[in-house]
Amino acid sequence: MSPILVANNINKTYDEGKIRTQVLTGLDLTIHPGERIAIVGTSGSGKSTLLHILGGLDTPSSGEVWLHDKCLNNMNETQRGEMRNKHLGFIYQFHHLLAEFTAVENVAMPLLMRPKVPTEQARLQATELLEKVGLGHRLDHRPGELSGGERQRVAIARALVTKPSLVLADEPTGNLDYDNAQSVFGLLSELQETLQTALLMVTHDRNLAALADRQLLLRSGQWEQY
Ligand SMILES: Nc1ncnc2c1ncn2[C@@H]1O[C@H](COP(=O)(O)OP(=O)(O)OP(=O)(O)O)[C@@H](O)[C@H]1O
Ligand SMILES: [Mg+2]
Repeated sequence: MSPILVANNINKTYDEGKIRTQVLTGLDLTIHPGERIAIVGTSGSGKSTLLHILGGLDTPSSGEVWLHDKCLNNMNETQRGEMRNKHLGFIYQFHHLLAEFTAVENVAMPLLMRPKVPTEQARLQATELLEKVGLGHRLDHRPGELSGGERQRVAIARALVTKPSLVLADEPTGNLDYDNAQSVFGLLSELQETLQTALLMVTHDRNLAALADRQLLLRSGQWEQY
């Protein structure tokens, strides 16, 4: 089976005035269908930067990212957005839900961005997924009217609503207490298993990381022995 994502020799530096910050150095990564990978690393080691680059939200200074045999580097913003919408789900470090929209509208959003998806159908799929994450009774709540764990579950539903082949999750349980973190991760794994979605998850929690198929340690922008 061909990989979903291949990253070759990814480098990222930020140049601001005289200050040059090298964040990622020569990173390679291959992700296969259905695979669950955990990335751990201390704060500032480059985890979010890497996820953003893999998801086409940011560009590397050098190196290539291939998603389903297409190179993201040569694409413009619109094309990258389409690739993301078609193949990827993204769970941000700080959920990034749209404050003025309800839970069901937030989850339906990636479907509504697609051409020719009727609003009713998008709402229906979003509702089904919100029911799966135990939020059937909170459909019309705005993010400000939800608890932290509930928001995180809305963000998971939004990432999975398009049935992506890969979910990139940046500390999906980072802001939750232990019990909620366990249940959110359990939920993510369960949905991911039914949909055969691959998962690349950043976490600070080695216990959660141990549940993945493969663990990677990022230190100062390079892979190290886990
Ligand atoms: N726009 C920028 N300009 C300069 N440096 C940046 C910029 N964005 C990020 N960095 C630096 O890159 C490094 C990696 O940041 P990143 O957000 O990827 O870390 P992280 O591993 O996700 O950390 P955390 O666990 O705290 O979320 C940090 O040292 C940060 O200061
Ligand atoms: Mg981060």
